[in-house]
This record gives sequence, C-alpha cells and structure tokens, in this order.
Amino acid sequence: MKPIRKAVFPVAGMGTRFLPATKAMPKEMLPVVDKPLIQYAVEEAIAAGVTELIFITGRNKRAIEDHFDSNPELEADLQGKNKLDLLERIQNIIPSYVSCIYTRQPAPLGLGHAVLCAAPIVGNEPFLVMLADDLIDATTPVARQLVEAAHQHNGSIVAIQQVEPDETDKYGIISGQRIDTLTTHLSAIVEKPAPADAPSTSAVVGRYVLEPEIFDHLRRTQAGVGGEIQLTDGIASLLKARDVFGYQYEGTRYDCGSKSGFFKATLEFGRKYHGL
Ligand code: G1P
Repeated sequence: MKPIRKAVFPVAGMGTRFLPATKAMPKEMLPVVDKPLIQYAVEEAIAAGVTELIFITGRNKRAIEDHFDSNPELEADLQGKNKLDLLERIQNIIPSYVSCIYTRQPAPLGLGHAVLCAAPIVGNEPFLVMLADDLIDATTPVARQLVEAAHQHNGSIVAIQQVEPDETDKYGIISGQRIDTLTTHLSAIVEKPAPADAPSTSAVVGRYVLEPEIFDHLRRTQAGVGGEIQLTDGIASLLKARDVFGYQYEGTRYDCGSKSGFFKATLEFGRKYHGL
C-alpha cells in the first residue's frame, strides 16, 4: 500500500445537539479544556504521518479556517507581552510542512457524500478519514495504529470497539472473520442497525483508512439511513471487491457528539493533562 499522506476531516455537520452553542460556531470548535475538538483530530493525523489536511466544510465553518491560519495581530500582542509559551502554542498548531485544503460540501447529503467531495483532492492514493466528534485518548495515536495496521494487512481498515447490544443503532456495525487478536476481515458492515438486526456488537468509530477505490463505490451509493449517503454503505460495496478490515484500537474514546461524552472528556482531560 502507498504511504498515507492525506487525511479528510468531514466538518460540515450542523451540530444540532449542542444548540444554542453551535448556532454561530462550528461544533468542531467546541473546546475540551483549551483545545477545540478539531485540533485534537488534526494533531492525531499529523502524528500518523499525514502532511495534507483536507477539510470538508459547510456553512458557518469559517472559524475552523481561521483557527488553523496565522493570526499576526495576536502573535504581535503575545510577543509584546512576552507570553512566549502561549505564542508558541498558537504558532505551531500546524507544522510548516503540513498544508490545509478546504472544500465545501454544497448540501448536507451525508458522511459518504462529504468524503466523496474530497475525491479530486485525494486522487489515487489511500487516505485517512477522521471524525472529530470521536475524541480518542491513546498512548499511540489511533490514526497511527490504523495506518500501521493498513500497511500490515494491505487494505482499507476501520477502527472498531465493542458497544452495548442496545447501542448498535448509533453506529456502523461490522461482522467478519477474526484474523488475529485485534483484526477482523470484514464480510459485512451496516449503518445503525436496530439491536435485533445487528450482526454483532463491533462498532465503527470515527477513524478510517480507505483505499481510493472507495470513491467509485460512493458515487454509486444511494441514500440510506436518515435519507443520507452513508460512508458505511460505500464501504459495504467496497468490501465485495477489496479487502476491508476492522481493527480493535487501543485507547479510550469519548463521544463528543453527545453532551455526556463531551462532559466526560472535559473532566478526564482536565484531570489527566491539566491537573484540574
Ligand atoms: C458516523 C458513522 C457511523 C460511525 C460513527 C462513529 O455516525 O455514520 O457508522 O459508527 O460515525 O462515531 P454519526 O455519529 O455521525 O451519526
């Protein structure tokens, strides 16, 4: 498999669960302690060796572009006040060898459609997809775990974890053949099945390494759950033609798309990393 140099961040979602906080601000800019969710995801991708960050944005997402851009006025002010550690923290969010590309998803047609919007930028190479809502605290960044596993198994690979049987309708759920302690060769993947219909309790979390063949499958994918073009359905089509794996990552995930997950993340990160 070719090296994975690009990561796609679908950030066009509305964030209705956090209204009114997200009325004028992207949900990806909600901070866990002192860093916005999107910055955690970006740092994780960079730690996995990515050098090109592709953001699929929508209305109201300008704050994300501003966050990763330089801010000369603020920098001069911090310099003048000799607040050099803060200066360093805002200057080096994105290392100079990493580039950011922003493209808009014209309408909220689903995660699969958002990923498809990256096709002309990704081209013919494997890439990461990172969902910033899933904040994952891990010794080895999960994106790096996945990239290594993708190379080892030479195929697309999705991060998985076990969930409670009554939670299957919140996730993509996989089934397949276990090939080692952490890896499953997928035979099926379904989006948000009711517990009675779920093929297992192995759920997809928001980290994927995908081969570029996914784009052709997404182009043919019809609207599914919620009337949206689902990435899961594209992967279900892909796995009929190519190897796709599930990888049980090491780490603790916080579902920051929900208030309770976001609250837990704030509490745990505050304690663990900020002595609060
Ligand atoms: C998305 C995917 C789903 C996946 C989940 C992980 O759902 O569609 O397959 O399990 O992310 O967080 P969402 O949470 O955006 O509804």
